[in-house]
Amino acid sequence: MVDPFRPDLLRSKTTLVTGGGTGLGRSIALRFASLGANVAVLGRRPDPVASTVRAIRDRGGRAFGVTADVRDGSAVRSAFDAVEGELGPVNQLVNNAAGNFLAASEDLSANAFDAVVRIVLHGTFHCTTELGRRLIGRQQKGEVVAITTTYAESGTAFALPSACGKAGVLALVRSLAVEWAAYGIRVNAVAPGAFRSEAASARLMPGTSEEQMTRRIPAGRPGHHWEIANLVAYVMSDGSPYQTGDQVTIDGGRQLLSGQTFAWLATLDRAEAKRLLSESKPRK
Ligand code: COA
Repeated sequence: MVDPFRPDLLRSKTTLVTGGGTGLGRSIALRFASLGANVAVLGRRPDPVASTVRAIRDRGGRAFGVTADVRDGSAVRSAFDAVEGELGPVNQLVNNAAGNFLAASEDLSANAFDAVVRIVLHGTFHCTTELGRRLIGRQQKGEVVAITTTYAESGTAFALPSACGKAGVLALVRSLAVEWAAYGIRVNAVAPGAFRSEAASARLMPGTSEEQMTRRIPAGRPGHHWEIANLVAYVMSDGSPYQTGDQVTIDGGRQLLSGQTFAWLATLDRAEAKRLLSESKPRK
């Protein structure tokens, strides 16, 4: 039994985090390093990548940064070569890089759809198969997590390319979990609800939408980055070796709220909800 709460939980891991320069990817990279993993930070822009690497090294961790666009399979291969030349064999991958924006679907160009799906779905395919080939060739076990979203299963209005891309990623996770279990490779998804990040605020929270969204989270707040970083670390650690092919949701109960007939009562002030409930009591 591996204790999932030990401080060096990820000591034997070399983890590549895509989109690791900013947002949730950065937080995951930092947390993995603090748990003992060697961390490869992959991103499109050199400055954020360098900043995450510096932050890890300043805290005494081992990290290496590489710039590449996950849409380009041969760039991904070269990035893995560079990382392995520096940190040794990679045995974990966090598919975090994503693209997203809000738009009415009738206004989307073919290029707009492609831009997102090629980052989200093709990027995950390139990175995951690159790692898979290397692990299988070396007869080495490994772990993959894809950061998906709660709407990977439900779809969502106004973010069609992302919904399609993430649904594809979930299918990839479930397919490879079965296909690669024989090689000791575990493949899971973690589906966050609302988490604040600069990119999300700029692209996905117009006007008062953050306030409106928060009202629909039973936990009453967006998630903290450390909460998802801990979950991803646990799922990818040797403390959870039987976990594969699953999508773990971390959203403060938001997804369930939308499917529950009477859940709107939970979004009211509780005294007001109780007043309404008492009104609905049958009269004697
Ligand atoms: N609404 C409609 N179309 C949009 C759009 C929007 N808000 N933003 C971009 N597009 C369209 C562009 O018009 C272009 O289509 P066109 O050539 O037919 O005009 C197409 O998408 C590609 O845009 P471009 O900016 O050239 O692509 P890119 O590859 O540089 O950027 C994106 C990719 C669009 C996904 C960009 O948002 C991005 O780089 N995102 C990364 C960060 C991110 O989104 N993280 C996730 C946040 S939670």
